[in-house]
Amino acid sequence: AFNLRNRSFVKELDFTPQELVFLIRLAADLKAAKYAGTEQPRLRGKNIALIFEKTSTRTRCAFEVAAHDQGAHVTYLDPAGSQIGHKESIKDTARVLGRMFDGIEYRGSSQELVEELAEYAGVPVWNGLTDEWHPTQMLADFLTITEHTDKPLREVTLAYMGDARNNLGNSLTVTGAMLGLDVRMVAPRELWPDEERVAAPARAIAETTGGRVTFTEDVAEGLAGADFVYTDVWVSMGEPAEVWDERIRQLLPYQVNAEALKATGNPDVKFLHCLPAFHDLGTQVARDIHARTGLSELEVTDEVFESPASVVFDQAENRMHTIKALMVATLG
Ligand code: CP
Ligand code: NVA
Repeated sequence: AFNLRNRSFVKELDFTPQELVFLIRLAADLKAAKYAGTEQPRLRGKNIALIFEKTSTRTRCAFEVAAHDQGAHVTYLDPAGSQIGHKESIKDTARVLGRMFDGIEYRGSSQELVEELAEYAGVPVWNGLTDEWHPTQMLADFLTITEHTDKPLREVTLAYMGDARNNLGNSLTVTGAMLGLDVRMVAPRELWPDEERVAAPARAIAETTGGRVTFTEDVAEGLAGADFVYTDVWVSMGEPAEVWDERIRQLLPYQVNAEALKATGNPDVKFLHCLPAFHDLGTQVARDIHARTGLSELEVTDEVFESPASVVFDQAENRMHTIKALMVATLG
């Protein structure tokens, strides 16, 4: 019933809620087939370009493994190796890559850039994260949610705590509304999503889907009754290191800790995080911040991250199954 062939996926708003649900269901089918050993390669002979102007672990590996499972080949262009927008215009690059590849993944800062690529490439372009949106992450997150609740999505309450103005905050606000959830964005007002670009469209969509979108600074109100509590890093890729101290000051009250999970009043509440996460001293940035502030956990405590409520590695795995579904649906 759904034909997504030759469609690009640069932001969620370009798709209908039904199309997003179709992609999530296809991902569940492909996941089951892989587990059963019955997966059919539907992308044999396809060539896929993976352009990363920002770094990645999950998204890159998800595209590569998904492509290989389906019989396709990939070419990885790393942050240093691409000339896009520096030595050659985006329009020209798009037309060159479109002559060689059957599909193009792009991760970088600029949403305009990925949209221009999609306009001129003549083949599907998939947004692997920009400063504005992280649409492939949404497919994985909502597949994970369906796997960890018996409720239909329209009855699920999702509370996001932290930087609601970043790509994840924007994408969750809009996608949650599209899929009819009760979405609470719990953050200081200055870190709420942009009204015109994100909040207003999300509210308008929620009216058609039966969803609900709430922005609140009140942690207790935001968390009450939540089925899922989601957070993301407090400083995103591309932001200057100087913003760390201000963000820590603004967002410490929005840390996802045992008390926050308890405040949901839901003993079955689950914890989500797109990863990477700041919950221990496993990175140099974390050790630097620890030396300066004494803090060794930021957006989530180690206790919550490592608890049975945490489904973050299911989420990470689902990046692969959902990206596979996206490629199969748009190229297969
Ligand atoms: N969640 C996510 O996009 O992870 P990477 O930055 O590792 O791709
Ligand atoms: N908001 C984060 C998401 C990482 C997957 C970032 O942009 O760095």
